[in-house]
Amino acid sequence: MSKYLVTSALPYANGPIHFGHIAGAYLPADIFTRFLRQKGEDVIYICGTDEYGVAITINAEKAGVPYKDYVDANHKLIKEFFDKLNIRFDHFSRTTIPEHAALAQEFFLALHKKGHIKPAVEAQFYCVTCGRFLADRYVSGTCPKCGADNVRGDECTKCGEWLDPSKIVKPACKVCGSKPEIRQTTQYFLDLNAFAPRLKEWLESKSDWKANVKNKALSLIEEGLVQRAITRDISWGVPVPLEEAKGKVLYVWFDAPIGYISATAEWARLAGKPEAWKDWWFDKETKLVHFIGKDNIIFHTIVWPAMLLGQDKPYIIPDNVPGNEFYNLEGRQFSKSDGWYIDTADFFSKYGVDALRYAIASNGPETSDSQFTWEDFQGRNNELADTLGNLVNRCFSFMKKNFEGKIPAAGELMPEDKALLDSFAPVFDEVGKSYYSYRVRQALTQTMALAITANKYVNDTAPWKLRKTDLVRCGTVLNVAARAIINAAILLYPVIPDTALKVLAKAGLAQDGKAPEFKPYTGLLDNVALGADDTLLFAKIMDDQIKLEVEKLKASAKPD
Ligand code: 2FM
Ligand code: ZN
Repeated sequence: MSKYLVTSALPYANGPIHFGHIAGAYLPADIFTRFLRQKGEDVIYICGTDEYGVAITINAEKAGVPYKDYVDANHKLIKEFFDKLNIRFDHFSRTTIPEHAALAQEFFLALHKKGHIKPAVEAQFYCVTCGRFLADRYVSGTCPKCGADNVRGDECTKCGEWLDPSKIVKPACKVCGSKPEIRQTTQYFLDLNAFAPRLKEWLESKSDWKANVKNKALSLIEEGLVQRAITRDISWGVPVPLEEAKGKVLYVWFDAPIGYISATAEWARLAGKPEAWKDWWFDKETKLVHFIGKDNIIFHTIVWPAMLLGQDKPYIIPDNVPGNEFYNLEGRQFSKSDGWYIDTADFFSKYGVDALRYAIASNGPETSDSQFTWEDFQGRNNELADTLGNLVNRCFSFMKKNFEGKIPAAGELMPEDKALLDSFAPVFDEVGKSYYSYRVRQALTQTMALAITANKYVNDTAPWKLRKTDLVRCGTVLNVAARAIINAAILLYPVIPDTALKVLAKAGLAQDGKAPEFKPYTGLLDNVALGADDTLLFAKIMDDQIKLEVEKLKASAKPD
């Protein structure tokens, strides 16, 4: 038994999030934590909104809304979206809670005291028209690394490089469009190089990490880590806790990961045990797992571990950072402003949450970019309807009609029955290993193979024919099929939890909303009364429906 502290990247409280975010950092973590709970592991799953930074101030200013009101509204919107998708955090917090600022300042001071944070005068763009320094995204221009146009000042959205805003080529003020001038300002810099040897040793010891994450981190160290400014001249953020730095705030990427800790502290406080967060963050046995998208790799494998290593208190550092690649929409990045998006309210009025979770999970961007296409979604939905839905429906309705709503007792077992029953345990082993190693796609392939085998078993044994010739054999076959259905539902629970619980309730094994234990179900089921629910699990999606969706998407798209 292990102890897991699982997090997902804190989404910016900067407008709605989309399926691309879900595929990268949230659904994989929700699946992982649901699985861990099934295994009886000790786990908490923590997240919250990232509420500071220039991405937010720019948009709030554009909307003419006070910063706080802007993040309040977006926090609510994002939380509701996660609820809709059944992403179950133990706690979903925000970085504007008071304990967050206090902790972020403590982190800063500990590093400052040790000499890891030092002030330096920096050349920065200043917009004379707007009368302010252009932090991060307040400036846009050409990426000095890859040459992409119109990138924002702090990170290149094309090559993923963490940029020094003053290095941007052909700079322009994002607010008024004028060409900024260079002025000197003092900022505080984090000396990452001081941590390089320890980070390198730690990264090299990680044999079970995804290659993309580990290689990216190691190559950054190889290139040499540059000192980065971790303060900004803006008004929205955590104040730098130094007398001489009045008016400056911490860079959002400095305070944001500390949000993982402050959110855990808030969770503990709300549970009436305010010290309990330390049982996680100060316990060497805790496995800290950060689910992120690939654009966040540098912060979670270099900057954040360095910040943790530089504290006086015994913080743990990440055990794993499962970073996913990008998840696009029909060949392009999701973008509401480009009209390339899915209206989620409309989506959920027509399609099921579990169909979506399954579609994303079975085609997730685990090792390379992947995408949502309407055709793929149709295929995955219909695969669930044909393989799982159909099996459940035909077996249980047959039992309802012919066996007084009960699962018939099994008689003598034939070799084909034994073969199916004996296959459950090895499937649980395989699927369990896949979930533990963040290979959800593989877990689903392995699970669906069982569902396909069970369908074939029912087709081959043909209980509807046996009913007339051999009622005992007919009952045995249905009993074995019911056991296969139950085991498939348990295996699928992390990905399609509501459906899995529905299937178990249909089989007379209602779980009261609790996660079913992740182990082969070996009950005999003789004469167990089936649940009352007769509804179909999945409705098939027809071709013309998909055609309409694709047309709608294309019609809303702004030209590239
Ligand atoms: O990229 C993002 O959306 C950031 N808000 C992620 C922050 S993760 C963590 F460090 F808080
Ligand atoms: Zn300006």
